[in-house]
Amino acid sequence: EFHKHPKHLKLASDGLVPHWDKAQLQRGMQVYKEVCSACHSLNLVAFRNIQDLGYTEGQVKSFAKSYDNIPSINPDTGEPATRTGLPSDHFPAPYANEVAARAANNNALPPDLSLITKAREGGKDYIYSLLTGFQNPPANLPKELRPGTGLHYNPYFANLNLAMAPPLADGQVTYADGTKATVDQMASDVTAFLVWTAEPKLVKRVQVGWGAFIFLLIFSTLTYLSYRNIWADKE
Ligand code: HEM
Repeated sequence: EFHKHPKHLKLASDGLVPHWDKAQLQRGMQVYKEVCSACHSLNLVAFRNIQDLGYTEGQVKSFAKSYDNIPSINPDTGEPATRTGLPSDHFPAPYANEVAARAANNNALPPDLSLITKAREGGKDYIYSLLTGFQNPPANLPKELRPGTGLHYNPYFANLNLAMAPPLADGQVTYADGTKATVDQMASDVTAFLVWTAEPKLVKRVQVGWGAFIFLLIFSTLTYLSYRNIWADKE
């Protein structure tokens, strides 16, 4: 068996007291924008959502405005057209439709990444492992398992060979905060970002859960004490 179990990726958003590492999420968004968005859409994320990552309203506006390829309709002719982005627009998709996407990718379809950390078994660990797992096929790999034309060997991918070439190489992006852009760093950062896109309310959810738990703890204690009090002088 050549298939490998995913490596564990530790993130600030893990565990019982999660938080968002906003600097990491911002780096991850940069990797998505500069690398992954060439082939993968992020349909469920609107520009205004990135305020969660620590950007101001003004920064969101200019970020949206930096896109000049938002699909729209020419109001005079009714023809398809493009315009610059607004905060309410979603990240634009790289291809007009599935046919165009497959035509550009050896007939494979790059999946939308919005929910990918939920959609794949292994979640964030799998995504991180896949991005860092490209390698030469082992020498003892049977011929029928070797990558065919246009395919790339990756022991974390369910059938070992996939149509995506290794998307990351050391120094691929230049981080604004000076972090060194190793493959491992970029893979961790973009995976952290994709954990956020898939569940932007994760931290809030856990916080509300703790609030409910502590409330119940206090309320149960009071209930118990008043029960003791009510029955205190009864036989
Ligand atoms: C598949 C992530 C960049 C083309 C995938 C999958 C993920 C992913 C999670 C799904 C694997 C699965 O089905 O389990 C990313 C990330 C990128 C990136 C995070 C940026 C760091 C790219 C780029 C291209 C590309 C730049 C095109 C040049 C594809 C294709 C597939 C794919 C064609 C389908 C592979 C298959 O089903 O055989 N990618 N990708 N990806 N990606 Fe990417």
